[in-house]
Parts: sequence; C-alpha cells; structure tokens
Amino acid sequence: MHQLAGDRPSAPLPAKADAPAILERLAVRADDAAEIMAGWPDPGSALWTPELSWLLDRSIALVRGDLGGHAWLAPGPELPRDRGPAWRHLYVYGYLALLDVVTGYHRDHGIPDAVTWTTLADLGRNLAVDRRMNREGWPVMQAWLTLHARGGLYELGRLQHQRSDDGSLGLHIPESGPMTPAAIDASLAEARAFFPRHFPDERYTSFSCGSWLLDPQLREYLPADSNIVRFQQRFELEPYEKDDGPDADVEVLRFGFRTLTTPLDRLPRDSVLQRAIIDHLRAGRHWHWRQGQFPI
Ligand SMILES: CC(C)(COP(=O)(O)OP(=O)(O)OC[C@H]1O[C@@H](n2cnc3c(N)ncnc32)[C@H](O)[C@@H]1OP(=O)(O)O)[C@@H](O)C(=O)NCCC(=O)NCCS
Repeated sequence: MHQLAGDRPSAPLPAKADAPAILERLAVRADDAAEIMAGWPDPGSALWTPELSWLLDRSIALVRGDLGGHAWLAPGPELPRDRGPAWRHLYVYGYLALLDVVTGYHRDHGIPDAVTWTTLADLGRNLAVDRRMNREGWPVMQAWLTLHARGGLYELGRLQHQRSDDGSLGLHIPESGPMTPAAIDASLAEARAFFPRHFPDERYTSFSCGSWLLDPQLREYLPADSNIVRFQQRFELEPYEKDDGPDADVEVLRFGFRTLTTPLDRLPRDSVLQRAIIDHLRAGRHWHWRQGQFPI
C-alpha cells in the first residue's frame, strides 16, 4: 500500500462502448468479457467503493510509472474475487487502462501491430486458464501481466521473450499447443532479429529460462524425443539452489493439471507427464525449478 500511495499519473479506461471490441482483440472469451463488462467502473457504480476505485487508480499509476521496465513487480494486493466482478477483475481494468500507454510505447519502438496485439492477447489466455483453475491462478497472473502492460515482454511465434538488464532474453512458454523444436527454432530466430531492430540500445548475448520444464529429473519419465526433453537439451543449467525460484512441486500442478489444491489421488493420469508428476511426488521426491541459458 505504501508503494501504491503518491501522486504519480494514472490513465483512464477506454470508453465502455469500445470495450467489447477491445476485449475481443485481447482474446478474452465471451464468458470472461461478460463479467468484465458487468463490473465496469462506471462513475457512481455501486460496485466500486471509494477504496476499490483508489486501488484501481493507484495500481494503474504504479505500473505506468515503470513503463519500459522488464523486471517482476511486487504483485498488487490479492482481492477476494468472489465478492463480484469489480473485485474479481480490478487488475483487468488496470490492464485495459494501460493499453493506450503501452501501445504508444510499442509504436515508439516500431513494434509491428501484429506483435503488439498477439502479445497483449495473453490477457484472454490467462483469464481462460484461471477459469479452468477455479480462479486459483490469478495471484500470479496479475503480476505476470504487468510485464505485457509495461512493454517488457513480446510474444514472437511460440515463445514470449522478456527483456532484461543482464544480456539475456528470458524465454516463457505460453500454453498454446505442443512446443515443437521447429516452432522454438522459429521463435528464437525471430527474436534474434527483433530485439536489435526495436531495442538497438540493448544487447543480448544469451537466451535464458527458469522453469519446472528444465528439471532434468523429467528425463527419468519422458521419452528422449519428447518436446520437453528436446527443449532441455538446448540449455546449460545453473547449479540447483533450493530456494532459487518458486516451489516446483506447486508449479508442476499449476502447469500439468491446472490446479493447486486437488489431492494427488484425485488428479488425472492421462499423459506420461501427468503420471510422472504424481508418481514422483508420491515417492516422496520433489521437483526442481531450474535456471538455464544458451548463447544467442
Ligand atoms: C510446455 C508444453 C507446451 C509442453 O508440451 P508438449 O510439447 O506436448 O511436450 P512433450 O512433447 O514433451 O510432452 C510429453 C508428454 O507429456 C504430456 N504433456 C506435456 N505437457 C503437458 C501438460 N502441461 N499437461 C499434461 N500433459 C502434458 C504430453 O501430452 C506427452 O504425453 P503423452 O505422450 O502421454 O501424450 C506444455 O506442457 C504446456 O503447454 N505447458 C503449459 C505452459 C508452461 O508450462 N509453461 C512454462 C511455465 S514455467
């Protein structure tokens, strides 16, 4: 709350009449769009207490204040989302208010429109995943999506690429079908041309990734020609450090089952990965979040 306070400039939401078309452009599904429209922060709306309106305004200002930034921001306060659409989608309204700001930033960097809107449409993908997760996923997503809203991350083909200060482009893998080696190669090639062209003052010498996907223990279970194992083979791993990154035992549930709370004996065993995750944990072992990189 201390960080939020202050008088940095905020940004207005788009006109409500334009919102349905904007939400469609952001790949927001009809059911999520209907909720977002229902909770719209109209002046005088009974859904918006002064405190919620303050939080929205100051959250927009805080993220806007870091336009062009590419580090993770501390997530805004977690809200009780079952209190209705204003509470549930406060950070979505913040994202919508920042669209003009971030698309202006993209234009200043000559980013093609198609990249801009593909990148920003991660909003719809995240809302849909969160719905599948019974809304358990949002606390991470509300922080994740500030990268998009600040021009810190770009979706180029199969991968999202995050700018940094340390000379490495951070790779993220959205849920958009299998990650075939050819699709990964194409995305890396696109990034090699994209960043020197649009961010000529930044110099990148490696690609990096931090993920449950890089845990070598997966090789005990997955076939050598699986996309995950082939992705791993690109990286040189940093030594494992237990507290370096999120708890991978939780992250494998998030990404392999889209739940955080279902007991192991009630999870589906439909794929080799799902069986691996369950059997490994049931054997009392742990998954590891690993960091790796390879030269550009
Ligand atoms: C990363 C991802 C695209 C890999 O999928 P993929 O290309 O199909 O991977 P593989 O070819 O290595 O899959 C090997 C096996 O694991 C299964 N599998 C892979 N990812 C799975 C997932 N997220 N959930 C369930 N099963 C999965 C595959 O179906 C296959 O099993 P099968 O042969 O029994 O069908 C996929 O896991 C995904 O979309 N994950 C969500 C996003 C994510 O995890 N990002 C990283 C965040 S740190």
